[in-house]
Order: sequence, then structure tokens, then C-alpha cells
Amino acid sequence: MQLSDFDIDLFLRDYWQKKPLLIRNPWKAWHNPLEPDELAGLACDDGVESRLIVQSGESWALEHGPFSEDRFGGLGAAPWTLLVQAVDHYAPDVAGLLAPFRFIPNWRIDDVMVSYASDGGGVGPHFDQYDVFLIQGLGQRRWRVGGRCDDTTPLRPHDDLRLLADFAATDDWLLEPGDILYVPPGFAHDGVAVGDDCMTYSIGFRAPSRPDLLMEWVEHLVDGMAEDDRYADPDLSAAVNPGEIAPSAIDRLHAMTVERLLDRDAFAHWFGQHSSTPKYADADWRPEEPVTVAELQALASEGAILLRNPASRFAFLRQEEGLLLFADGATFPCSGGAAALAQRICAQDHVVLDPSLADAMELLAALVNQGSLMVDDDEEEED
Ligand code: SIN
Ligand code: CO
Repeated sequence: MQLSDFDIDLFLRDYWQKKPLLIRNPWKAWHNPLEPDELAGLACDDGVESRLIVQSGESWALEHGPFSEDRFGGLGAAPWTLLVQAVDHYAPDVAGLLAPFRFIPNWRIDDVMVSYASDGGGVGPHFDQYDVFLIQGLGQRRWRVGGRCDDTTPLRPHDDLRLLADFAATDDWLLEPGDILYVPPGFAHDGVAVGDDCMTYSIGFRAPSRPDLLMEWVEHLVDGMAEDDRYADPDLSAAVNPGEIAPSAIDRLHAMTVERLLDRDAFAHWFGQHSSTPKYADADWRPEEPVTVAELQALASEGAILLRNPASRFAFLRQEEGLLLFADGATFPCSGGAAALAQRICAQDHVVLDPSLADAMELLAALVNQGSLMVDDDEEEED
């Protein structure tokens, strides 16, 4: 799906990671994909990450979900906002909001967070470490956007919401349903609901921090290393001064630490697998009954559809021959028809089965059985 009057190349050149952009309703016909009640229902589920922020004067109180059903009825007149993370995992129509943003690679996408606010509600002026497209779903929100912040930007004291101590807006916009505000990482922003029933969909991205990336890569390398892989010096010559650490020893020690770190192929393989691990490791999407290759073949002859689980992460790495498909932290080396299919799965949210996919059936069965693909039951019923 494409947004109208939205030039992807121009956006990437002039705005992506550079400056905020307001995009006035670019949808063919905007339709709010989730009801406020459905969002409240998700916030009561203990497998779902949610927060409630209630404002009193100049201070904001934060509570973490899951919430009891009567919590939302009991909120007073003070402005409040409910924020639910990864709603795209549970609501296919919300996952559909990602479609126009697929010009950004899968591995950079985090989730779709949805907020619901009463009149005057918001999370306060802050900045995020990641890019975000804020889509106004329902009602109106006034967004004020300021300049770029960093680690030295003063924050309010003892504030678990990391609110800015000083916020000066350079832009001030009222967003209506369907409008989109892009905010690059680090830019100060503050969104306040104007009227009740304000819903905002945040398409959030990820960018690994250097310390996390390095720590996790090293952790992976260390896991695979043997205790007896040690410094050795069978060529040792007598020390002139026993206190000196000889340059030759440093060379050898340094090589021991960097050799494996610099293995680009091993890094690429690890990164594909690592970055495709699911956002919520505990969520179990596996089918109750595993599917067999024979069952999939039967479904293929009926033209059944396999849907990509919106909670699943898919990516691939080209190899000299074929490719490596990564799905939810698992690696599948693919060649021939399976490699072509793997690329289609990465690019689309569904695959139509057909008997010509014979050499990819084992791959498809493995993906269904680990919960990354799901048989579309609706389609079967219609057949
Ligand atoms: C919101 O939806 O209220 C907050 C989103 C954000 O500022 O990142
Ligand atoms: Co934000």
C-alpha cells in the first residue's frame, strides 16, 4: 500500500533521521483500525505491555499494566493516557499500518504502539532514541516539536518518564485523523489530546546502540568458546626484565581478542539471527497441532493461504548460493525455489500456497510449526 503525495526518495533524502515532517492525511480513505474498547481490553491482558499515565498539575504518575477492567471507568477528570505496546502483534488491521513504511527494512522496525488519551492527556515533553511515525487515528492531538536533544539535555529530576526540564517548540501542529507526524531520533516532542477519544498509532523503529551491539556479539562469541582455548607461548625466550609485558605477548593477546570479532560472515549470520528474535521471547505462537508436509501439500492443492504472524520477525541475507532466511531467531539456509519463496515471505504478509512450491514445503512446515506463519482459516472456510 502506498501513501498518496508521499515521495519516498525525497523523504529519505531530506527528512529520515534528519528533521521532523508533518504529512497531512495521505491515505486514500483513512479508517481508524482499532476501537478504544479493544485497546483497553489488550491493556488488561497480562501478556501485553501497557502503561497508564495520569496527570495532576505539572506532574505525571506512571502505572504499569496489566490493568483490571474497572480501572478505566474509575479514572477521574484529570487528563490521562493509556499506552499499549506492540498492538500490531494482536490486531492485524493495526499491523496493516506498517505496509506503507515497508520501504524501511524489516530489521529496523520495532512495533506499533497505540495510545488513547482523554482531553489534555499526553506523556509530557520528551525525546526518544528512535524514529517514529505518529499517525493520528481518532480525535485530535496538538503536537509541538522542538530541537535535537542528547545525553546532556536537562531532564526533570527523579522522573521515570524522562521528561524534559525545558521544552521550547519550533513547530506547533494540530493533527486530525489520518495525519502523520514523523519525528527523528532525539527531537523533543509533546503531544496533547484536544478533546476526548484521542488515539495515536506510533510506528516505532529500532537502532542498536553500539554498547549493546558489541556486548551481545561478544556474548555470542564467548558462548561458543572453549575454556582450553588459551594463551600459549611454546616459543618463550628468557625475560630480560621479568616485569615487562613483551610486545610479542601483547600482539598475541590482542589477536586472541580481535580475530573472531572481525569475522564479518560470522557477524552477519549472528546479526540476522539475533535481530530476528521476537520482541517478546515468552510469547508462544506455535499451533496446538504441528502441521505435516503432507498436510501442507494438501492445502497447496486447494490454494490455501499462509499468513505471516504479525508478531514474527523475518529477514534474509544473500549468500553466494541461495540465502539464509531468519525467522524469529531461527536460521534456514535456502536455495532454489525455497530461496525465492523466502524472499516473497520477507516482502509480503502472506503466501498463496500452490503445488509448484513442492521444494519449499519443508521450510513452510517448519515456519508454521514455530508459529511464524499461520494457516488462514477464513480462507479455508470460504473454499
Ligand atoms: C503518544 O502516543 O501519546 C506518545 C507517543 C510519543 O510521543 O512517542
Ligand atoms: Co515520543
